[in-house]
Amino acid sequence: MGRTQYYVAASADGYIADRENHLDWLLQYGFEAYQDHFDAFVADVGALAMGASTYEFVLEQGDWAYGDRPVRVFTHRDLPRIEGANLEFVEGPVARHAGALLASAGGRNLWVVGGGRLAAQFADAGLLDELWLTCMPIVLGGGHPVLPTSAARDLRLQRTTHFEGGAVELRYALEGPDRQVWPE
Ligand SMILES: NC(=O)c1ccc[n+]([C@@H]2O[C@H](COP(=O)([O-])OP(=O)(O)OC[C@H]3O[C@@H](n4cnc5c(N)ncnc54)[C@H](OP(=O)(O)O)[C@@H]3O)[C@@H](O)[C@H]2O)c1
Repeated sequence: MGRTQYYVAASADGYIADRENHLDWLLQYGFEAYQDHFDAFVADVGALAMGASTYEFVLEQGDWAYGDRPVRVFTHRDLPRIEGANLEFVEGPVARHAGALLASAGGRNLWVVGGGRLAAQFADAGLLDELWLTCMPIVLGGGHPVLPTSAARDLRLQRTTHFEGGAVELRYALEGPDRQVWPE
């Protein structure tokens, strides 16, 4: 069965977007140092989940990088569709969509793209298996937090990967007695 993974890049002080909801601070590093690693991660992804704010950022960029993988966008609004993307707009508790999300991944992993507000709901519901956190060598002083869970959660470090330029990926498993088993 696939795992549910929140793969994300954050500043060293724990923000995934700055106060203005911008990612320039992240994009300035480029992708060269990470591309092969990222491609290997994506190769095991069968489906994705995305919050409305993250989807709006992708819309603005105008570049759809997820192929024909099924993507569920969590939103209360009627957002524009991206042509060619395999999209479904959903709303409500993430647990309500858990079965369909995992089924759509077809045995591969579910990538919770973010942002933090959506990923935290998966963690709070006991439905997040792993956090892959690429820690960038910068502090922002404020912005959108990486994982604003409703309570403290223990993480178990599984692997670290260093990248040229000073970024470090910390791969964690989420711990906790409330970890749910995904529906079959
Ligand atoms: N650094 C990185 O690697 C990285 C990765 C991902 C995202 N980002 C950035 O992070 C920022 C956004 O992160 P964020 O945490 O603020 O927001 P987010 O999780 O992307 O989106 C939050 C919004 O999604 C909708 N939503 C969330 N849960 C829902 C639910 N259960 N049902 C229905 N709608 C739901 C709500 O919008 P509505 O009610 O308005 O529909 C909510 O305000 C963006 O700038 C994005 O580009 C960075």
